[in-house]
Amino acid sequence: MNGGSGSPAGEIILTPDGSRTALSARHGEAYGSRHGAAGQARHVFLEGTGTDRDPHPRVVEVGFGLGVNFRATLADCARRGVPLEYVAYEFDPAPAEVLRLVAEGGEGADHPVWAALLESWGEESPLPIEVGDMRLTVHFADVLTAPLPQGWATALYLDGFSPARNPEVWTPEFVGRLASALAPGGVLATYSAAGHVRRALAASGLTVGKRPGPPGKRECLRAVREA
Ligand SMILES: C[S@@+](CC[C@H](N)C(=O)[O-])C[C@H]1O[C@@H](n2cnc3c(N)ncnc32)[C@H](O)[C@@H]1O
Repeated sequence: MNGGSGSPAGEIILTPDGSRTALSARHGEAYGSRHGAAGQARHVFLEGTGTDRDPHPRVVEVGFGLGVNFRATLADCARRGVPLEYVAYEFDPAPAEVLRLVAEGGEGADHPVWAALLESWGEESPLPIEVGDMRLTVHFADVLTAPLPQGWATALYLDGFSPARNPEVWTPEFVGRLASALAPGGVLATYSAAGHVRRALAASGLTVGKRPGPPGKRECLRAVREA
């Protein structure tokens, strides 16, 4: 999985906020926002779930992609001096070299957890990385069939390509499984504001609200599992 053959990730894209993303040749879609990949990570996921104010975040992510959301969260926790537990799912890992190039000079890229991740990327699944009180576990697995933590996550980052390109991670059935991974008070965030996504989240018992979107997007969603 560490090699470049059959690489699902193509061209690297520089975005207006100075961060990078890449094009997924397989899905014909960029991994992150072309209007600002780091900005999207911060606005939609970190701030959208309140992880930037949480004294001990426990995050579940669908899917890990290029690790932009992870690095934003790692850098924020390191800056605030709080521990982080982060569990991510990725069934089509991009080569480690693409993750490195996208991250170069960006937030979190100089953290030892990131270096350790690139070192062992794709070697085993689940892949546990632990440095001090920062813990990351990447499951190289299809999240549709993988077991999920139950009642555990303070935050859920639903970032599995768009509903149009990858409808499987947006069905009411799967969204219901995601809702059960949230701890009471936990928040799911996603950049989609599509009506069917809102309805699937609400049908899972979550309280759904729209927020202003990041650059290039009018609205995005946050959905809370009431305590
Ligand atoms: C929009 S990208 C995620 C970007 C990522 N969160 C980041 O910060 O770089 C979507 C990712 O979800 C992964 N994905 C899509 N469906 C999946 C599934 N059923 N199981 C696991 N991973 C999935 C894709 O392979 C892709 O890497």
